[in-house]
Amino acid sequence: MPQDNIEAIKQKLDIVELIGEYIQLKPAGANNFKALCPFHGEKTPSFMVSKDKQIWHCFGCGEGGDVFGFVQKMEGMEFPEALRHLAKKAGIQLQYQDPTISNKKTLYQDICRAAAEFYHAILTDHPKAQPVRDYLEKRGVSTDSIETWHLGYAPDGWDTLNNYLMQKKSFKAEDIFQAGLSVKKDRGDGYNDRFRKRLMFPIWDPHGTVIGFGGRWLGPEKEVAKYINTPQTLIYNKSATLYGIDKAKQEIKKEKFAVIVEGYMDVLASHQAGVTNVVAASGTALTPDQVRLVKRFTTDVRLAFDQDLAGDTAAKRGITVAWQEDLTTKVITIPEGKDPDELMQKDVQAWKDAIANAQSIMEYYFTSTFNQYDSTNVEDKKKIAKVLLPVIALLADPIEQTHYIQKLAESLRVEESVIRDKVRQLSSADTGDTTATPERSTSTPVIDRSVKLGERLVGFAMERPTLLPQIIEQVLPAYIMETKLHTLYKRLSDYYNENQQFDYQGFITALRQEDPTAATYADVLTLAAGQSLGELTDNEAEHEVIYGAQSLKRHYIQKQLKDIEQQMRLAESRGDADVLEQLSHTFADLTAELRQVS
Ligand code: UTP
Ligand code: MN
Repeated sequence: MPQDNIEAIKQKLDIVELIGEYIQLKPAGANNFKALCPFHGEKTPSFMVSKDKQIWHCFGCGEGGDVFGFVQKMEGMEFPEALRHLAKKAGIQLQYQDPTISNKKTLYQDICRAAAEFYHAILTDHPKAQPVRDYLEKRGVSTDSIETWHLGYAPDGWDTLNNYLMQKKSFKAEDIFQAGLSVKKDRGDGYNDRFRKRLMFPIWDPHGTVIGFGGRWLGPEKEVAKYINTPQTLIYNKSATLYGIDKAKQEIKKEKFAVIVEGYMDVLASHQAGVTNVVAASGTALTPDQVRLVKRFTTDVRLAFDQDLAGDTAAKRGITVAWQEDLTTKVITIPEGKDPDELMQKDVQAWKDAIANAQSIMEYYFTSTFNQYDSTNVEDKKKIAKVLLPVIALLADPIEQTHYIQKLAESLRVEESVIRDKVRQLSSADTGDTTATPERSTSTPVIDRSVKLGERLVGFAMERPTLLPQIIEQVLPAYIMETKLHTLYKRLSDYYNENQQFDYQGFITALRQEDPTAATYADVLTLAAGQSLGELTDNEAEHEVIYGAQSLKRHYIQKQLKDIEQQMRLAESRGDADVLEQLSHTFADLTAELRQVS
């Protein structure tokens, strides 16, 4: 890949603007911006973007890099794809198209787009689709909405789409299958269309690329699934998708909150009524991936789930997930057990009011729980307490917690102290009721402590050259075992030993010519170090260097001891007494050395 394309793209795109399209950045100092890290759950922002260095770094999870790294991670793209994506954004023509770029993902996207056009043409033009057009009209879906949402109709033949895509568009049967549009025949070879006799909802990613479909059954038969969706494919993952996000994202940013409903039809109806900050979780409880998606645009969500038991459970699961990811969450309750679409058919204003009157989570928990049980009955009282106590125990704010302890005590007519004791037990046990507190998402990368420490010291060395001699003296390159960091540190110490002084610009310029990735890495570490050193006195910084160097050395020796142990075992099984003796000497020496740094 020619290096100048990459540089040209970086020149054209401002990292602050680019990242700003995904998450909300707040200025932090003259050249930096801060945000809540999109890659791990956190309450206080430790995600930094540097305008002059054109890099990003999260001090919480340790991730960082340039625009390419960000897009790769955020969009789950491989490098070639990110390159193409950013080149397009930057308006740069890539002279050389890497063959791996026209990969499967793009192919499946092309297939989905062709399918969406096909279904849409049938719905709008084909005589056989007249009943479907009547159905939509009866349900109040306007022609505008049919266009905007590119609704379609999958006819009831066995292989109408498949034939079209193969014969007219030259796609291969296997690829159509991999894109989720066909199923393998029960008997014999070949494929049948996955969607038949269904009203088709194309599903888009946030950039407006079709990645899958939802299909609503329109026949009279009741035993058929009402909706079927594209299965998990390379480009479609139901639990990471929010239906309508591409069309709602601007308004979500503007309104500063997102409304999350259950169904495709609810989204359509709401947008048609002019309330466009609305997306659908598509019939599942909100997942952590969906929450992270919406978090690119807002940290405030309102959930509108059905009032039945399934809806209530979905809402509560969603609340917990949103809570875990530090979203401000409210619940929209819709009167008379309707869904938003039904409500709007009668009264658009009622939908707007319901959104405006969304309840806080605690209010919602109280009303929904008290509605489910009879609070005068002892057994029911216990059940109510069982639901509400763990939630109250989760409240971080003591005033808020006391408020709800009192409220629960009053509503159940029991002593406040009884409730308070229970809450205390739950808070201190910290085992967490799993219905109320599912495990934190495991997506936070676990970084080897010693790598993190090494990065910190190498960053210190570059950011504050007065610390450099001390670091070079105490931290041998061998102590840094992670390859990328080892290489950088080796270059740094070589540079220093050669010049007997250090200037960052000189170092980084030379480095960039030889190894641009290492240069960006150096930039990131320096940015991180600047941040940490700002909070440390000289004395504290020196102390950290001494302590850190010892810790790295300790880690290094421990690793060596393990290796020797392994070799000793081998020597023993071979019965090689000489080697064994040598190894035990080295082992003893290292153990002595380890004692000095422990
Ligand atoms: P609903 O049953 O509430 O459907 O499911 P709806 O969207 O209101 O549709 P209408 O108004 O009856 O036509 C809500 C959502 O749950 C998902 C779909 O995404 C649907 O929009 N769902 C539902 C499925 O994925 N599979 C199903 O069998 C049912
Ligand atoms: Mn509905």
